[in-house]
Amino acid sequence: MKIKRITSLDLAEITEIEKVCFSDCWNEHMLCRELELPQALYFAAEHKGKIVGYLGGHLICGQLDITRVAVLPLFRRKGIAAALFKEAAEHCERITLEVRESNAAAIALYKKIGFKEDCVRKNYYSAPIENAVLMSSDRTRQ
Ligand SMILES: CC(C)(COP(=O)(O)OP(=O)(O)OC[C@H]1O[C@@H](n2cnc3c(N)ncnc32)[C@H](O)[C@@H]1OP(=O)(O)O)[C@@H](O)C(=O)NCCC(=O)NCCS
Repeated sequence: MKIKRITSLDLAEITEIEKVCFSDCWNEHMLCRELELPQALYFAAEHKGKIVGYLGGHLICGQLDITRVAVLPLFRRKGIAAALFKEAAEHCERITLEVRESNAAAIALYKKIGFKEDCVRKNYYSAPIENAVLMSSDRTRQ
């Protein structure tokens, strides 16, 4: 498995991952605009030349705010998301994210790789309405 920076050439594959992994998926146009932002930092995990997972967010003043992390169902529980976070951590001092309170898989992942829960934001998500757990991982704290 190889981790690489995402480029516009990867847009079609990332769009497919979005469709499979999220109900509020980003389309190719949205992804394209996202990747063009100067603060965008996105990585893909490639297996046999095919992108099977990706992660990214906005890097501002050393802090990476995660917008997306997803791994195709067939490739889950193989350490791919953890490897993507490890790569991202090389490029920042601190990582922050929010996650639906019911997303047990993601919360288990974040805790395993050293994220701490900072607070809960009530009714942050819509469709369905749900609380967000805000978490962060600090290089100096690890
Ligand atoms: C959350 C997600 C990204 C995890 O990706 P992954 O590549 O399977 O995660 P990893 O294999 O790196 O998992 C590392 C550890 O996290 C924990 N973990 C991951 N998935 C888990 C699950 N379904 N149940 C319990 N623990 C889980 C485990 O501790 C795991 O280590 P282990 O397999 O040795 O027990 C993936 O399930 C996914 O794409 N979900 C849909 C999209 C999503 O919810 N994104 C997050 C939005 S905030």
